[in-house]
Amino acid sequence: MGGVDQAFVQEPEQRPKPSTIEVDGIPVIDMSVSGTGGIEKLASEIGNACRKWGFFQVINHGVPLELRQRVEKVAKAFFDLPIEEKRKAKRDELNFTGYHDEEHTKNVRDWKEVFDMLIEDPTFLPASPDPDDEEIRTYSNKWPENPPEFRETCQEYCREVEKLAFKLLELISLSLGLPANRLSDFFKHQTGMLRLNYYPPCPSPELALGVGRHRDGGALTVLAQDDVGGLQIRRQSDGEWIPIKPIPNAYIINIADALQVWSNNLYVSAEHRVVVNSERERFSIPLFFFPSHYVKVKPLEELVNEQNPAKYKEYSWGKFYVNRTGSNYKKLEAENLQIDHFKTSESE
Ligand code: OGA
Ligand code: NI
Repeated sequence: MGGVDQAFVQEPEQRPKPSTIEVDGIPVIDMSVSGTGGIEKLASEIGNACRKWGFFQVINHGVPLELRQRVEKVAKAFFDLPIEEKRKAKRDELNFTGYHDEEHTKNVRDWKEVFDMLIEDPTFLPASPDPDDEEIRTYSNKWPENPPEFRETCQEYCREVEKLAFKLLELISLSLGLPANRLSDFFKHQTGMLRLNYYPPCPSPELALGVGRHRDGGALTVLAQDDVGGLQIRRQSDGEWIPIKPIPNAYIINIADALQVWSNNLYVSAEHRVVVNSERERFSIPLFFFPSHYVKVKPLEELVNEQNPAKYKEYSWGKFYVNRTGSNYKKLEAENLQIDHFKTSESE
């Protein structure tokens, strides 16, 4: 069908429309702070963006441009390797890190290749999604031999973007009227990862998607995209798909599911997707910031009261995550686990 394998073909209602409207996009927030009240002002801008969009871009974020350029270079060098070479660092049943080219979102294959690495090495996760299984497994990164500077560059980049993620977490806590460090303890043994995404040119961009519509399952995502464009978010007000315009050297930040739950729905984990094109390859590098596996995610007590009861029951981050990662491997019969599953009768 139209030059791509059937496995990539989206249901008609999910296919991207050729004309996307020109609109004002998500807020662009300058993170350089000066003067009295600077932090409060910044936190309040972030809070507004989290309520309205669940997405914003940041500039003057402190991640060195030179480092970002180096990581983009090793990403390109890696994905340019012959497929047999890339598959030497392939994800397998025992270790989900490394190279992967068969990811599915909502059971349709994504038009992309990825390389995943854990931010913390080792990372501890439950062995299975079964609530009665207490076994914890230890995961370590798998690295390719080439390009030779891949490992060191990616590790250095992880450290810098992680700093930005912690800074954003503090600002988000402040924006919720909480102490800056209110959420930090949830990340003592964080389980997040850095992903290198490669979207090759696609012969039928009207049928396939780079990543199908989804919400990010973790706490926060910090994404670098190149100048090609393709990321779209679903606008809360009318459900329209809005393109996110590439801004050189900016990061795209989005609220993910755990933050929606902690904020008791004050902040939104917005649906997004990636459209591909027939001419240019595209690269993006998200850092998925995830809590420790033993964290029980539930609306923060400070944000819950009689007028505003908890909209979610508590769930274990580790079990939720392990349940979801299973479903990226292959086509499943059912849709994967969503936070809606933990909604209480208080949420409409
Ligand atoms: C993701 C994602 C967006 C992009 O990997 O979860 O939404 O622009 N990626 O690649
Ligand atoms: Ni995403």
